[in-house]
Parts: sequence; C-alpha cells; structure tokens
Amino acid sequence: MIRLTLGLVAAAVAISPAVAVVPVYGQCGGRTYSGETVCASGSACIAQNEWYSQCLPGASTTPAPVPTTTRTTTPPPPASTGFVKTSGTKFTLNGAPFTVVGTNSYWVGLNGLSTANMNTAFQDIARTGATAVRTWGFNEVTSQNGNWYQGWTGRTSTVNSGASGLQNFDNVVAAAKANGLRLIVALTNNWADYGGMDVYVNQIVGQGQPHDLFYTNANVKTAYKNYIKTFVGRYVNEPGILAWELANEPRCKGTTGTTSGSCTPATITAWAKEMTAYIKSIDSNHLVGVGDEGFFNQPGAPTYPYQGGDGIDFDANLAISTVDFGTFHSYPEPWGQTNNATAWGVQWIQDHAASQKRIGKPVIIEEFGVTTNQLSTYTSWLNTVISSGLSGDLIWQAGSRLPTGPSADDGYTIYPDDPVYPLLTGHAAALKARG
Ligand SMILES: *[C@@H]1O[C@H](CO)[C@@H](O)[C@H](O)[C@H]1NC(C)=O
Repeated sequence: MIRLTLGLVAAAVAISPAVAVVPVYGQCGGRTYSGETVCASGSACIAQNEWYSQCLPGASTTPAPVPTTTRTTTPPPPASTGFVKTSGTKFTLNGAPFTVVGTNSYWVGLNGLSTANMNTAFQDIARTGATAVRTWGFNEVTSQNGNWYQGWTGRTSTVNSGASGLQNFDNVVAAAKANGLRLIVALTNNWADYGGMDVYVNQIVGQGQPHDLFYTNANVKTAYKNYIKTFVGRYVNEPGILAWELANEPRCKGTTGTTSGSCTPATITAWAKEMTAYIKSIDSNHLVGVGDEGFFNQPGAPTYPYQGGDGIDFDANLAISTVDFGTFHSYPEPWGQTNNATAWGVQWIQDHAASQKRIGKPVIIEEFGVTTNQLSTYTSWLNTVISSGLSGDLIWQAGSRLPTGPSADDGYTIYPDDPVYPLLTGHAAALKARG
C-alpha cells in the first residue's frame, strides 16, 4: 500500500517553494522530482538513473548517456584483501580512500537461508554500488533451533560452532565477499530480538533482573567477553569483516524496561571503553564501533534524542581511544518527530557531522528509516550526508525477492523494485565521487 502511493506523495512534497540553485551533489531531476533543476556553477545535472539526477562537479553540461556516466564515475569493486582502517575522519583500504555506503540485512545469517539465497541477497545490495552491509553476529537462545550462535542452560553457555552456527556465519562472510561487500557485525542486541542482553542477565543474574546489569555485573561481562573471544577470534584474519560493534542500540533500558535506577551515560561509556579495549586485545586488524543510536547527552535540549536519558553520550563514546568510528541511527517517527521528520533528520545528520569533525574520527549514519514519504525524506538526508561531510551511511534495510519468497518487510524494507533503490544507487556513486 505504501509503495503504491509513494510516488505521488513524494512528488507533492518535493515542489520547491522558491527558486534556488541546486548545490553540488544535490538532486536536480528524476521521475518524481519536481524541484529546482539549475545546478550550482561548476557542476552539471547528470542523470544517474530514471529516478535520480544530480549536480556533479566538473561535469559537462551536455548530459551523457546514463549508463556511461555512472560507470565512468564509479570506481571498481573494492579489493577483497586488506583491512579497512581509518585516517582522520576517513576510512581507507590498502592506503586508498574507502567509502562506507550500503545497507543493513540483520536476517541474512539468521533465517536459515541457503548459500544461494545469501548470494542473491548480497547481489541485490551490491548492485546499488554498496560497499558495506551491517548484520547480526548473535542469536542468544535457551532452546536450540534454526540458526543460533550461543545457547544457554542455566548459567552456562555454549557457542554453536556447527553448521547452524559459526559455519553458517562463515557462509555469510563468503557470500558478502563474493559480491565485493564487507560486513559490519554487531555482537549482541539491546532488544529481545534474537536474545540479546537480557538473555545474559536472566541466565546469569536471574530472570527479570535489571537490563543494565549487562553493563556492570562482573559475571555477565565475563560471559560476553567469552562470546567475543570465540566469535571475533574466528575472524581475526578475515578481510570480509569491516568492523565489529559491541551491540545493536545499547541503552539503559531494554525491551522490558527494567532498570536498576543507577544507569547513566557514564555507565555505558565505561562499559564501551572496557569492551572495545577487550576486542582490540584479541583482534588488532578490525575496526571497532559501539553500534549505538548516537544520542547526545545534553540535558534540557528540546528533543529527546539530544537529552541523554537513554544512557548514551555520543561525544564521550566517540572520544574513547579504542572506538575507531562513531555510529548513529535516525528514526524521527518513533522518536516523537513525526511531523518534522525530514528537517529533524537533516539537523541530526549535521550535528553528528560536527562531532565527527570535532573529535576527528569517521562517523556513519548506520540505520535510518521513515515509513512514509521515503523517497523525498531519504533524498534530503542522503544529500545532507554528502554536503555535511559525514563519512558514510547504511540504510535500514535491504530486502530481496528470493525464490523462497520475499525477505521479511518491517515497513522499512527496500526491495530492488522499490523507487528508493535507484536513489541509493545514485547516492552510492555520488558519495564515492565526493570521497
Ligand atoms: C524541525 O526540526 C528542526 C531541526 O531540529 C528545527 O529547527 C525546527 O524548529 C523543527 N520544527 C518544528 C515545527 O518543530
């Protein structure tokens, strides 16, 4: 339903209120686009595909045929050897600039996919020009079935090294690499999906104990480190891994909302410091990030993602010496900004780009989504990524139409026949061109 009305809604929203020149890398045309088409001087409007034309610097004002232009400005697929590193606010690979752009697919290693379907999923992503995919490297279970990575009996856990566990993840890595993609792998979840932090707390401390004991209880921390030792240890020499992340969206409260009452941003910053240092002690090849939503800790700020209430201090975490890059997410609808989603997200991106510059490490918007007006909102946000200098972005999330049926749609999923898909394709080329 959303897909059918999207084009009309986007067209209505995109009408420019006043004539203005489109900035370099801004959108200047495309099938549902009705905004300004005159490019800033020194740039020209070049079609990337049917849905998306943009102002590219130094481009000839005579539009070239679409495929030729795209190909000549797109670097070859990244080398599958070497580890992605950082230099100042940029990512590098084998000494050359490396653009982190792509999507999320939490499901590729979790839903019993065949290796052929994994390959199709990554191929669909790679066709946008993506270089990176973020996925889940965990599934904490108390009853073992399907793909699981750590199983619990009482306080004792076992990592699944078999075909439904780590060997399955080996196949995920191989399929990503075969398509020129690198993986950003989160190692647990704040939320109850696929087990996550609460399974550690429930099993070790007791059922229903406060979520935030995950960050402070000595036995829980040891168990989490043991998982890291086995999972991360297996891939120390694997260039198909781009980075490790401590957790998906760590917060003081999880799905059940239980809290000890003493969790503050300093709690999670101390935990992030200890755990990123631990990963570095066993794996010096890979980058390490937190995987958080990028909340700022500015009590009294007008909107909640800036107020620090969920226990995240983005700037403090980015300053940790063993954190290589910063991460943030953008979901204005569940964050109370539904009526101002596009503008709020633009500011949110600019504010994180400012932190990137101030602290001197790359920052990526590694999850973002709205459920309505996707094309126009994403166009604004992706243009802001480019104009703000933010290092990279990963949309939430990729979908594929597999022979076994479409991958799950959570309302944000972009299948290859979605009009957002070509937008992502044009954006990946523009971000690589920006460097
Ligand atoms: C929308 O968000 C922007 C950026 O945060 C803010 O400047 C503006 O005041 C907001 N508008 C409304 C109506 O809340």
